[in-house]
Amino acid sequence: MKVEQDLHMSRGDGETSYAANSRLQEKAILRTRPLLQNAVGEVLQASLSHSGHGKMVVADLGCSSGPNTLLVVSQVLGAVANCNCGEQPTTGVQFFLNDLPGNDFNLVFQSLELFRKITEKEFGEALPPYYIAGLPGSFYTRLFPDRSVSLFHSSYCLMWRSKIPDEIAKGVVLNVGNMYIWETTPSSVVKLYQKQFKEDFSLFLKLRYDELVSGGQMVLTFLGRKNKGVLRGEVSYMWGLLAQALQSLVQEGRVEEEKLNTFNLPFYSPSMDEVKAVVRQSELFDISHIQLFESNWDPQDDMDDDDVTLDSVRSGINVARCIRAVLEPLIARHFGRCIVDDLFDMYAQNVARHLEQVKTKYPVIVLSLKARR
Ligand SMILES: C[S@@+](CC[C@H](N)C(=O)[O-])C[C@H]1O[C@@H](n2cnc3c(N)ncnc32)[C@H](O)[C@@H]1O
Repeated sequence: MKVEQDLHMSRGDGETSYAANSRLQEKAILRTRPLLQNAVGEVLQASLSHSGHGKMVVADLGCSSGPNTLLVVSQVLGAVANCNCGEQPTTGVQFFLNDLPGNDFNLVFQSLELFRKITEKEFGEALPPYYIAGLPGSFYTRLFPDRSVSLFHSSYCLMWRSKIPDEIAKGVVLNVGNMYIWETTPSSVVKLYQKQFKEDFSLFLKLRYDELVSGGQMVLTFLGRKNKGVLRGEVSYMWGLLAQALQSLVQEGRVEEEKLNTFNLPFYSPSMDEVKAVVRQSELFDISHIQLFESNWDPQDDMDDDDVTLDSVRSGINVARCIRAVLEPLIARHFGRCIVDDLFDMYAQNVARHLEQVKTKYPVIVLSLKARR
């Protein structure tokens, strides 16, 4: 698997698309809105005091396609419109919407005309001039010239690795029966995933630091881990239940065992300590805020403080829809399209059984970073 070529969410806006199944990620964008608003306000003030004009370049990294993409843009525009920046007008906001080349950018572009009408109505005179451009490319490469971006935002993306660690991809070490770290994963595999996370996240910080203007900031939200034990991370359960569904298909003779053993996710959900350690080692950013919050697996279940799943069958179906929208392209490419419906039906049942026992939640890490310069 080549992440840059193969990773993308399910395209279009049909029943199984990411656009129609991204409420989980929407909830994180809404929850972290105060941090984003705060960062926009500070970056705008810094721009006004340094250069006398409130020109901002904002990039959303891993924007995907669907309502969430423009929700982020709308939140930034709202923050600029409501910013108490004295009499000085904002000259304009340039947005760059970044994702990997396989992303459905057309769906985003097609919704821009309607979005413009909605923002004009919502913000009226306070709406700053704004411009939107798509930017295909990996955020593990340089995307912008030196010192040209005011604010980076990224939500539900940085748990994706730039690649599957080489030794795992080449089959030098195997993670038999799994697709991610799970109870039976050998420690050699765990170490390789951890090393990949450290390399990727350090590189990401270095690249963004060079691209940020003086006073520039980042607001980053991604899946993390609350459990200290890496073999039983909360997200590991979610992938573990999908691997179980694949194992059932192996037993039925519909999937070759070797296919399962060679399917590995380019993914790692770190603990807060792991995140803080990489930021500190980089010596490039100050952490102005870091927090871990929890979100129910079922995107439709808004009872985040509750420990009981009221309708586990319904929740299983909802979770399976959400995960299918993220993973179907990778699954179909590796195993073939013909297993997809049955796989996610089985997965829904596995999730339902799990949620009856314990209401596991996603740990989500959000952090605000200020460039040190
Ligand atoms: C779960 S989606 C989140 C999308 C959106 N931010 C949201 O909150 O709904 C994760 C996105 O990250 C993108 N992504 C993953 N790795 C990436 C990389 N190296 N460079 C750019 N985008 C990446 C994926 O293609 C996908 O669209």
